Amino acid sequence: MSALLEKIDKSKLPRHIAIIMDGNGRWAKEKGEDRLFGHFHGVESVRNIVEGSAELGIEYLTLYAFSTENWDRPEYEVIGLMELLVSTIRKEVESLDKNNIRLHVIGDMNMLPDYARNELNEALDITKDNTGLNLIMALSYSGRWELLNAVKNIAHEVKLGKLNVEAIDENILQRFLCTSEFPDPELMIRTSGEFRISNFLLYQLAYAELYFTNVRWPDFRKNNLYEAILDYQARERRFGKTSDQLVT
Ligand code: IPE
Ligand code: IPE
Ligand code: MG
Repeated sequence: MSALLEKIDKSKLPRHIAIIMDGNGRWAKEKGEDRLFGHFHGVESVRNIVEGSAELGIEYLTLYAFSTENWDRPEYEVIGLMELLVSTIRKEVESLDKNNIRLHVIGDMNMLPDYARNELNEALDITKDNTGLNLIMALSYSGRWELLNAVKNIAHEVKLGKLNVEAIDENILQRFLCTSEFPDPELMIRTSGEFRISNFLLYQLAYAELYFTNVRWPDFRKNNLYEAILDYQARERRFGKTSDQLVT
């Protein structure tokens, strides 16, 4: 067993880990390869981290795979990423199902090409009764898109007389987010040495512990995940209170 894994306190695991999988393009360029080569190798990391999270008993894993802004990348890269998504899901769905993993998708599915949306819907359906790890893929997702959508839908309900303005509280707002079924992430990891959120889960990360590593996504493996969890476990989460107040 990995020495790092042994150090993890199993009673203090985050329920929900969110990851900005960044650095595929640079990883490939550094090897003199095309950016798509990096995305291709990034899939191996996804497989490894999903497996590692499931083994640990993490309940929710959200992976930022494609942002609203990523649609503005060169067409060949966007198409390459969509094709990689479809072929990966096709290849992996059986093993996800066997491992009791339930797939979810958050993001603007209407933006996806039909063939990708159909493949995803099929995988969502196949895994819908699974009770193990919830694997949440953020695809064509951005925090601002999600919040805008929530505001519009709330306004619509108010207009129809189904909702009172006075009744709108955090619970109601939560219901209109695409993450309504999931607890907020306690730990957010970003790979590749960038220190920003890039429009990821803007509302849900309010009190997440942030962990940044220089490791590029295609090199990120279980041991890197364990390091992040150990770092998280050494933090004091105060939620606005003082340190003294936390000692009960
Ligand atoms: C992350 O890697 C994957 C996606 C955004 C789809 P990048 O493609 O952003 O890689 P870098 O940041 O350019 O190295
Ligand atoms: C964030 O990475 C989105 C994903 C990892 C899917 P980007 O590479 O798109 O973010 P920026 O442009 O560096 O902020
Ligand atoms: Mg990037």
